[in-house]
Amino acid sequence: MPSSFGALEVGTPEYGGGSPIAHSHERGVPVVAFHGPAGTPDARFRLVAQHADVTLPSGRHVEALTFDRRLPGPELRVHEGDLVEVTLVNRDVREGVAIHWHGVDIPNAEDGVAGVTQDSVQPAQSHVYRFRADVAGTYWYHSHQHAAAEVERGLYGALVVLPRSPPPPRMLDLVAIAHSIGGVKLLGSSDVEQRRPVRPGTPVRLRLVNSADTMRTFALAGTRFRVVGIDARDKNGGGELTGQAVDVPAGGRYDLVFSMPAKPVRLAVRGEDVGLVLGSGRGDAPEATFERRFDPAAYGTPAAPVPDHFDRRFEVKIGRKLGFFEGGVRLGWQWTLNGKAYPDMPTYMVGRGETLELSFSNSSKLAHPMHLHGHHMLVFARDGRRVTPWWSDTLEVGAGQRYDVALFARSPGVWMFHCHNLPHAARGLVTHLAYEHVMTPFRTGSATGNDPE
Ligand code: C2O
Ligand code: CU
Repeated sequence: MPSSFGALEVGTPEYGGGSPIAHSHERGVPVVAFHGPAGTPDARFRLVAQHADVTLPSGRHVEALTFDRRLPGPELRVHEGDLVEVTLVNRDVREGVAIHWHGVDIPNAEDGVAGVTQDSVQPAQSHVYRFRADVAGTYWYHSHQHAAAEVERGLYGALVVLPRSPPPPRMLDLVAIAHSIGGVKLLGSSDVEQRRPVRPGTPVRLRLVNSADTMRTFALAGTRFRVVGIDARDKNGGGELTGQAVDVPAGGRYDLVFSMPAKPVRLAVRGEDVGLVLGSGRGDAPEATFERRFDPAAYGTPAAPVPDHFDRRFEVKIGRKLGFFEGGVRLGWQWTLNGKAYPDMPTYMVGRGETLELSFSNSSKLAHPMHLHGHHMLVFARDGRRVTPWWSDTLEVGAGQRYDVALFARSPGVWMFHCHNLPHAARGLVTHLAYEHVMTPFRTGSATGNDPE
């Protein structure tokens, strides 16, 4: 790998059957032109990235990288329509930090990717992010500098955008973010099951977030529930469920609602000791079961109409091949997209206003939660069959699976597109969606201080 390169200097441009698009890393509008709005912020936060020794509820210690010495970082709550301003301060993280607002369809300059939309923030430096929280839902934020290492070590937290309309009275609105740090499993800030008294009849919204690198399966025992949101988009019209476990891909979010019954309810994570028991002591919380799985492809009403015309149709064929990496010193498996390995990955070139189709397939024998920055994907077919369309920003493509999604190119920039199993991304399962006439002045590589994955 060169010691300094631009995201658009590497890769092979693909045009998806549409007209070729000028592909230049030197000319074009720089990504910094696409920044958040000016004006007085409605919500203002300061996040200080710093090392901290954190004592978990079990008594175990972890040496973490934190925001504000907290694990996870502070839960940021804002309202739909708010202008949000966040100042990131790096106290002592030598490798540098940047904050990505995962799932927020944000202006490109605020996207927080070191080496693509900004330089990493070095110790004693700071950086200000500004964006409008346009859509209510569950999001999260995390470092996008050395992401595989820094997210795992603790540089992450939840971002909740509450709807403008007031919630039902007495509503309990909880985030449950599943993580793994140094092999220690966490749900929220706890490594053991927690309890929380809740009065019967209380409306509850549970915001499930997966900040770990692999799928987490959640089960909710002791109540009926509905899935009302996926990846910060409403899932409307779904019926009540019982005994169905919910798979949340790495980076994904699922929102569940229920009304608190008279007896306790248990939220459990498959294969882990963490969990949450809601209710007041009367009766034991039932054991969770994981046999039956919720299927987002067959639930509720269609999120949006599926376009009948696409300006470009792209293949995203995930595979792997044997090759040399780390400067040719190691032989091992390399991830490939359309048969190409990093840094020659396909760069998906698009024009503003176009409607695109992405067709994912996966012959690699492992699952890949594919995350596209800056856009939501309308998932409309699985394994060649039409499904009830839903919006996703982090779509798990299982081994042997195919997905077709539609994409509306409305937000110019250079957008990361990668696997959210972050060690996979660090090993090259990463590319970009690049708009016509947009370039990035930022650079990645050992000589630059920027290494997004
Ligand atoms: Cu949550 Cu590019 O990542
Ligand atoms: Cu992967």
